[in-house]
Amino acid sequence: MIPAEILISGPRTLAGTLFVSGAKNAALPELAAACLCAGELTLANLPAVEDVRVMMAALQRIGARVELDAAAHDVRINLPAVTSSEVPAEIVQTSRASILLLGPLLARTGHGRVCLPGGCPIGDRKVNLHLAGLRQMGAIIREDEGYIEATTKGLRGTEFDFPIKTVTGTENLIMAAVLAEGTTILRNCALEPEIGDLIRLLRGMGALISDEGSDVLEITGVSRLTGSCHRIIPDRIEAGTFAIAGALPGNDLLIENAEPEHLASLLDLLRAVGASVRLDGPRIGVRGTGPWHPVEVETAPFPGFPTDLQAQLTTLLTQVPGKSRVRETIFNDRFRHIAELRRLGAAIEVDGDTATITGATPLRGSVLTTTDLRASAALVLGGLIAEGETVIRNAYQLFRGYEGLAGKLQNVGGAITIRMLENAR
Ligand code: EPU
Repeated sequence: MIPAEILISGPRTLAGTLFVSGAKNAALPELAAACLCAGELTLANLPAVEDVRVMMAALQRIGARVELDAAAHDVRINLPAVTSSEVPAEIVQTSRASILLLGPLLARTGHGRVCLPGGCPIGDRKVNLHLAGLRQMGAIIREDEGYIEATTKGLRGTEFDFPIKTVTGTENLIMAAVLAEGTTILRNCALEPEIGDLIRLLRGMGALISDEGSDVLEITGVSRLTGSCHRIIPDRIEAGTFAIAGALPGNDLLIENAEPEHLASLLDLLRAVGASVRLDGPRIGVRGTGPWHPVEVETAPFPGFPTDLQAQLTTLLTQVPGKSRVRETIFNDRFRHIAELRRLGAAIEVDGDTATITGATPLRGSVLTTTDLRASAALVLGGLIAEGETVIRNAYQLFRGYEGLAGKLQNVGGAITIRMLENAR
């Protein structure tokens, strides 16, 4: 863990161009997919973020040769033989990378032992559906001392209906099914673009998977997969965070290397709030022009409004006159940024799963503590609006999923510095 604080001197108007990195949440399952073949897997557009580094360390632990070309954002992975099918806690305690290795390890070796996943404290993050699906495919699973251990004499195709949509659950079962014997049908699959990207990678490796645009997937197991080369899609949550920054009153940002189709729900909402949004191929221009209107929004699985942008949107809504409402439907404890935004002077009430934001309020710099990745981004935006200095403690969270955010924002006028600490507070 890297102990650090973020220092922001506000208020700052942002103007200029921001470049989007590769998608963290596509990179993680795609790195895990390297377990499924003995040949070389090359991933391009790999984001330089902590969660990805942790996943690469986990792959090394199970026997992979991982060659990273950091300047090119490329990685080559070779795993001719799995030398250990255990992913210990000390490697993955800060990330949810571990659970994504369970399906691939089982499929490749018939055994996987992974520590129960960490990641952001944003509510219950159950994995019961991952385990139910794997059991139905013929795995025997035990949970003990914070670990999940699964064994099988061979995975078999099955029909599995997800009672609720789960992103990594869908990814895990797809990766298990590609090498299982027979055909697997998965129903009510999540449709997030990262899943489509994983499916395209697996197809390139020789997997037989039906159309990625549907929530019903049919996967016919093959006896082996081969190496492949794949370019990771742009990070829609980073792009969305930049779009929200652009929508703040007075800002004017051009976001490059984005995939606007992956952000339709956010861009519609920003227009409804009063921002001007222009699309031009992989570029999104967003200006905080007004006139402003309060909005009501609830998070939902893709193509709905993403929970991973809920905190950042809440910061924007503190600057929009009137009462806006944000309902969080995916996670049951994802409002921890609100107490911190209140320290900056925001007027926000929480009632169960709904936050009511009364704007526009002037914000003043303060000392804040962040608890999760997306909350960190929300607080950075708050610091850029606020008058005076804002300090964000526990800044490690931001490095987990945003590549070089401070530098990117500095380039468009943000006065942000990262202070590395000798001891974490
Ligand atoms: N759920 C279950 N049982 C399961 C799996 C999920 O009840 O077996 C519940 C969860 O408790 C949660 C809901 O279903 O309430 C949705 O969870 P999901 O499984 O979809 O989330 P995840 O796969 O753990 C991924 C992203 C998250 C993102 C969510 C929702 C990755 C590595 N993580 O998590 O990203 O918030 O989908 O879109 O893909 C982030 O990047 O900041 C982040 C938290």
